[in-house]
Amino acid sequence: MIALLGLLLGLLLACTAEPQPAPEPVDPHQEAVERLLAFPPQASAFEDPRLRSLELVRHEDRAQVMALLPLEAGMRVADVGCGIGRFTFDLARSVGPAGSVQAVDVDSLVLEVMRDRLQDPAFPHPGNITLVLGQQDGLPLEPGSVDLALLAHLDFHLVRPLAPPHHVDFLRGVGRSLAPGGRLVVLQWLGARAGATVEDLAANYRDLGFELEVRHDLEEHGSVLLILRRGQE
Ligand SMILES: C[S@@+](CC[C@H](N)C(=O)[O-])C[C@H]1O[C@@H](n2cnc3c(N)ncnc32)[C@H](O)[C@@H]1O
Repeated sequence: MIALLGLLLGLLLACTAEPQPAPEPVDPHQEAVERLLAFPPQASAFEDPRLRSLELVRHEDRAQVMALLPLEAGMRVADVGCGIGRFTFDLARSVGPAGSVQAVDVDSLVLEVMRDRLQDPAFPHPGNITLVLGQQDGLPLEPGSVDLALLAHLDFHLVRPLAPPHHVDFLRGVGRSLAPGGRLVVLQWLGARAGATVEDLAANYRDLGFELEVRHDLEEHGSVLLILRRGQE
């Protein structure tokens, strides 16, 4: 009897329920942008005309950053955490056709945007960019295969001491990817909401066996750019 009443009540509710609207189709570009914006606080530059309305956030002057990087034609570069390529295309042009850029990201959606951009004449490059799906706990690049690795706004290295272990493993992997004499460049926003200082950042890298070579303060944007060499682990 009780079961019958339950069934009747269920049928009644099903008949009176509002029809549910069909779910909005997911736009992978939009989703990628929202994920990037979720990385506080500066996210990326969205120069792509498709994404221009999302160009909400302040960021460093790209030309200023590029001018500070110790780049030469023919270098093998890794843009680690490339996002939607804010620096990737500039890097590719700077090292020229004799050089290469491995654009690595753990987010397959941003790599989808990058795949489109590689075909888009609005993003000129000499055909020397390879997209690589990254890992949370390592860098899937050959040991000793990179002359310069750029880590722009990966944020997690602000925690002092560095934790959890997979971030330590990831940064050790970045170190192993460097060729002898290779450099790691860290670009990081350090404004009031970052909750860490440049000393915290540098200390984390020192613990991982990197030696700080040069520090540039990009004061207008509250960012810092560190150029490090891999020392003894
Ligand atoms: C805030 S975005 C910065 C993008 C770009 N470097 C820039 O400055 O505009 C950080 C990016 O790092 C990526 N990322 C986070 N952890 C990573 C890892 N372990 N390996 C590769 N990419 C990672 C995220 O998916 C995201 O696209």
